[in-house]
Amino acid sequence: MIIAIDGPAGTGKSTVSKLLAEKLGFEHLNSGIIFRIITWNILQQDIPFDNIPAIIKISRQVVYEFIDTTHLRDTIVSDNVAIIAQIPEVRQIAQDIQREYAETYNVVVEGRDIGTMVFPQAEYKFYLDASVEVRTERRYQELISKGELCDKEEIKQSIIARDTYDSSREHSPLRPADDAIIVDTGNLSIEEVLNTLIQYINPTHI
Ligand code: CDP
Repeated sequence: MIIAIDGPAGTGKSTVSKLLAEKLGFEHLNSGIIFRIITWNILQQDIPFDNIPAIIKISRQVVYEFIDTTHLRDTIVSDNVAIIAQIPEVRQIAQDIQREYAETYNVVVEGRDIGTMVFPQAEYKFYLDASVEVRTERRYQELISKGELCDKEEIKQSIIARDTYDSSREHSPLRPADDAIIVDTGNLSIEEVLNTLIQYINPTHI
C-alpha cells in the first residue's frame, strides 16, 4: 500500500510521515533526500548546473552509493536543490528509485509530486499546507534548536524562492492531486495533524 504526503517546506511533512509510517508499520520514504543527495554531490564536485550529461551521470552513481547524511540539510543544499530538481532526467532517476522501493514495501512517501506523478494510484493522498509565515517560524525554530545561527527574513526568502521554483517548474510541479485531502497545518500540532490523517485511513489498515 502507498500513502502519499505532499506539500511545501515547513508543513511538518517529514515528522508526520515518519510517525504515520511507524504507526502503520510501513516504511518511510523521504523523496526530497534523493534530490538533496544529488545536489550535494554536484556542489561538491563543482559540476556546472547546465552540464546536464555530467549531472545525469553523477545522479545515477550517487543515489545508490551515498550514505553520509551530515550535509544534506545545509543551507547551500536547500538553496540549490530546487534548481537541480527541475531537470527532467534527474526527476526520472528519482522516480525510478521510488517506484522500485514501493514494489517491495508498504510505504508512506513524502515529497512534492508523489500523489500527482510518482504514485497517482496511491491509496491515500494527503497535501499538507500552511502560510509562509507559519512555515518560516517552524524552520527557524528547527534551525535554532540545532544550534544554527540564522536570520528569519533570510529563511522566509529562501522558502519563498523554493516554493516558486517547485510550483512553477514545467515537469511535476508542486500541486495537490485532484483527489488529495488538503490539510492546513497552520494551527495544528504534529499530534493533531497525525490524528487528522489517521481519521481518513480505513481502520483495518491501522
Ligand atoms: O524538507 P523540505 O520540505 O525542506 O524539503 P525536501 O522534502 O527535502 O525537498 C527538497 C527539495 O527537493 C524540494 O524543494 C524540491 O525542489 C525537491 N523535491 C522535488 O522536486 N520532488 C519531490 N518529490 C521531493 C523534493
